[in-house]
Amino acid sequence: MNPAARAAALFRARYGVAPAAVASAPGRVNLIGEHVDYYGGLVLPVALGERTAVAAGPAPGRLRAVAEDVRFTPVDVPWAPVRAGTWSDYAAGVAVLMAAERSGPDELGVALAVASDVPVGAGVSSSAALEVATAAALDAWWQRRHTPDALARIAHAAETTFVGVPCGMMDQMAAAVTSAHCALLLDCRTLERESVPVTVDLVLADTGERHDLRDGAYARRRAEGEAALARIRADHPSLDALVDIPPARLSALLPVLTPEQGRRVRHVVNEQQRTRLAARALESGDAEAFSALVNASHASLRDLYECSSPRLDAVAEAARQLPRVLGARMVGAGWGGSVLVVCEPGAAGVVAAQLSGDTALALPAVRVVVPGEGVRVE
Ligand code: GLA
Repeated sequence: MNPAARAAALFRARYGVAPAAVASAPGRVNLIGEHVDYYGGLVLPVALGERTAVAAGPAPGRLRAVAEDVRFTPVDVPWAPVRAGTWSDYAAGVAVLMAAERSGPDELGVALAVASDVPVGAGVSSSAALEVATAAALDAWWQRRHTPDALARIAHAAETTFVGVPCGMMDQMAAAVTSAHCALLLDCRTLERESVPVTVDLVLADTGERHDLRDGAYARRRAEGEAALARIRADHPSLDALVDIPPARLSALLPVLTPEQGRRVRHVVNEQQRTRLAARALESGDAEAFSALVNASHASLRDLYECSSPRLDAVAEAARQLPRVLGARMVGAGWGGSVLVVCEPGAAGVVAAQLSGDTALALPAVRVVVPGEGVRVE
């Protein structure tokens, strides 16, 4: 059964009635453009074939949430617009924000059931999939007729204001607007986008090392970048964002920064440039050029943004040694999660088999990435 059918079945089993609406949204893997979305940079995510489905219906005065995944304890609490500190906050935040859009019935409340094929903690944004699927299910049930962009904005607001993670827009937009078989070249400042056909094969190797965005390292990086921008702006007030710095101007701007700030800024400026070039290389089928940029992105995340880990580095390096592999890099926030492996067209199956059979690497999950599509009402 697909996640939508499982979410509907779980809803009926738990609450004894059929859901009012069911929607689903995909996880994502970012091909390149890492740690630039919250500076308004360019990103290039692909939606995964794996999806999270949310079934929603009324529960007057209560917030009820149940997930198929037994690690997520069922929630049944009085309806209140406050964070509970549990997994259900991602969905509850969306429900609270959407309920506040219009004055609704006095006894507002929602019951949710969640079924998902998106791995949790693997750096593929299971949280945005849950948020966007919840937004679409409530939108269908409450007949709000929001566009996919608007659903992504609500989902993003839920994550930043309700859950409290200062993330950029990449994950929610990827879950909402990506077209099938394509990567999404997204400008995170203007939300202008372009679909780029995926002309390489992709494998995603989960290292088993877990990260949690709420642990503070992510927020610290963002604050470091913002402090660097503030320092540069003291001399160059017309500069709006780090991603606006042309790579050729970097050396002139760096001396006023601390060495650490300099490393962060070099990553952001060069990653912006790499993403632009990578989208063109992918589009023109230049797999070698694309993969060289992917490898350079990993080195930059490791050495300059300092968000890789010894295990991510080792898995990326081992993958690069395999025949028919063109490049590899850590994906998502880092400090654990997954490695993206870029392969020659047609090679994903054999590369995935080799990686999962490598007992020294002991990877808990290796999957061939079949690019999926954004949110849909089921
Ligand atoms: C996490 C965040 C995204 C993005 C990436 C790093 O996945 O949710 O907004 O910042 O890290 O590129």
